[in-house]
Amino acid sequence: MRYPEEVVEEVRMRNDIVDIISGYVKLQKKGSNYFGLCPFHNEKSPSFSVSPGKQMYYCFGCGAGGNVITFVMEYENYSFGEALNLLADRAGITLPKQEYSREAKEQEDLKKTLLEINKLAANYFYYQLKQPQGQAGYEYLKKRQLSDDTIRRFGLGFANKTSDDLYRFLKSRGYEDSILKETGLVTVEERGGRDKFWNRVMFPILDVNNRVIGFGGRVMGDGAPKYLNSPETKLFDKSRNLFGLNYARTSREKYMLICEGYMDVIAMHQAGFSNSVASLGTAFTSQHAVLLKRYTQQVILTYDSDEAGTKAALRAIPILKDVGMSIKVLNMKPYKDPDEFMKNLGPEAFRQRIAEARNSFLFEIDVLRRQYQMDDPEQKTNFYQETARKLLEFPEALERDNYIQAVSREYYIPYEDLRRLVNQMGSRIAPGTSILAGKRAEETKEERKKTAPKGKEEGNRQSQRLLLTWLIEKPDLFQKIKGIISPADFVEPLYHQVAEMVFEEQEKGNLNPAGILNHFINDDEQYREVAALFHASLKESLSNEEQKKAFSETVLKVKKNSLDWASRQARDINELQQIIKEQAALRSLNISLD
Ligand code: UTP
Ligand code: MN
Repeated sequence: MRYPEEVVEEVRMRNDIVDIISGYVKLQKKGSNYFGLCPFHNEKSPSFSVSPGKQMYYCFGCGAGGNVITFVMEYENYSFGEALNLLADRAGITLPKQEYSREAKEQEDLKKTLLEINKLAANYFYYQLKQPQGQAGYEYLKKRQLSDDTIRRFGLGFANKTSDDLYRFLKSRGYEDSILKETGLVTVEERGGRDKFWNRVMFPILDVNNRVIGFGGRVMGDGAPKYLNSPETKLFDKSRNLFGLNYARTSREKYMLICEGYMDVIAMHQAGFSNSVASLGTAFTSQHAVLLKRYTQQVILTYDSDEAGTKAALRAIPILKDVGMSIKVLNMKPYKDPDEFMKNLGPEAFRQRIAEARNSFLFEIDVLRRQYQMDDPEQKTNFYQETARKLLEFPEALERDNYIQAVSREYYIPYEDLRRLVNQMGSRIAPGTSILAGKRAEETKEERKKTAPKGKEEGNRQSQRLLLTWLIEKPDLFQKIKGIISPADFVEPLYHQVAEMVFEEQEKGNLNPAGILNHFINDDEQYREVAALFHASLKESLSNEEQKKAFSETVLKVKKNSLDWASRQARDINELQQIIKEQAALRSLNISLD
């Protein structure tokens, strides 16, 4: 999709980046910039910066960066078009009819149509529930003690026994087979269309923006499968959506409750816990964790109390930890799940369980403990050792010590002994010999991969990047390189493009970083790199003297590389001679920061 550049630029300019971002992230002014906790990765101290001058954001921790449009795209998980629409709306700008590329237009239209059909289907199911043919479904939901209010709030419905009524209904609304197939709601064969769901109560699945993106359907009784879910479609990505989050996101509680099932979420909401969500018939993923992290710092796992539920909790804990979430685990016993618990003991007792919810680390140790026979000295020793090994996972000494204290208290292990065991184990573990150390070694490998110079070529890219950053940061350097460096000397195509714009704007004295970034907005990788250019500042650690030296060296390096490159491209002897002359001149050139 293509909007004219001026339009995109106007939408961008009319939305102040500090205004927009502070709607999502708590920002604090420090000097000329604003800082806050990065919404795109886990951190405890703010490294996410927003520059009103540049109208850009950048995270020094994870490298996320961009302008107001890319922020909305990343934060809301929006396409470029969706982000632009939102921002245009906010600024009261009417967007012209888009000049879509044909393919992009088709994709956008397809998504729109799928949303339309899903909404129609949800209304259709909802309507059926109150009809004579939907009576069984309505009675089923009533038997499960759902109120009419709850049924309405969650838009619950019924898919008839007839095996193609939804298909016929959608056809009557003028939709082609080709598009109906993409909804996952029907299959189309030679004999005609068939509904995927029939004789089931229907749970529409809404995204955080309240759009129907799929369905779960439950048999009424004991049939299999118990729940049938929409397949993944252009709209429906199970690992990026959570059931109930559209409501939970607006809850005033500080934490969210993660359950296993649709019915649990609904029962919880009905009982007043509107901060409950569930994954959609799939395991909890790291994308789910990132999604939740936007809305809360703290979760309580309310998984089923059976073995499957415990396993699911053990799998979810490290995933949630990875995004820096504080996690607790709720004990549902003697009931199986929140739905049953609520029916039997009610919301007050549940609140009590929330207050008593177990720290996730101690929960893990509890589960571990059950695998050992504590009256056997050998097994008991093994349990202690395993526990000590897990305690080593806390990288910070103070935090680790707090947990050593807690474990020693809870399991009656003398504190000093446990601490000694942990320390011993820590000093014994050589890289590569334990899971933990293995993980660390892998990380450093990753780090190395990131920072390792990739030979000469990367070196050349780096100097071009550095010089460009300098020219952006310090317009007065511009005069110093006049006649020596031109945009053509940036031989890396991306830097060349940026350099042309930077040179032109610096010349006029009105550098507009966020505007330049707009040109790269359609290419994820490019805009990231360009955003980083505008944010990488001079290394603080360099002394003045070192900076001067680094600057002149960088200029020379860029020029030399550019000449080398030109000499390889030279078409005739004259051209080559000219280049050689310049190369010679370069050696006697003296560029300084002074
Ligand atoms: P549960 O069986 O615990 O579901 O499965 P539930 O929500 O408590 O259902 P009720 O109370 O028996 O009606 C948990 C979740 O796993 C997925 C569904 O998302 C369900 O909510 N699931 C389960 C399926 O996708 N397919 C199945 O056949 C079963
Ligand atoms: Mn259940």
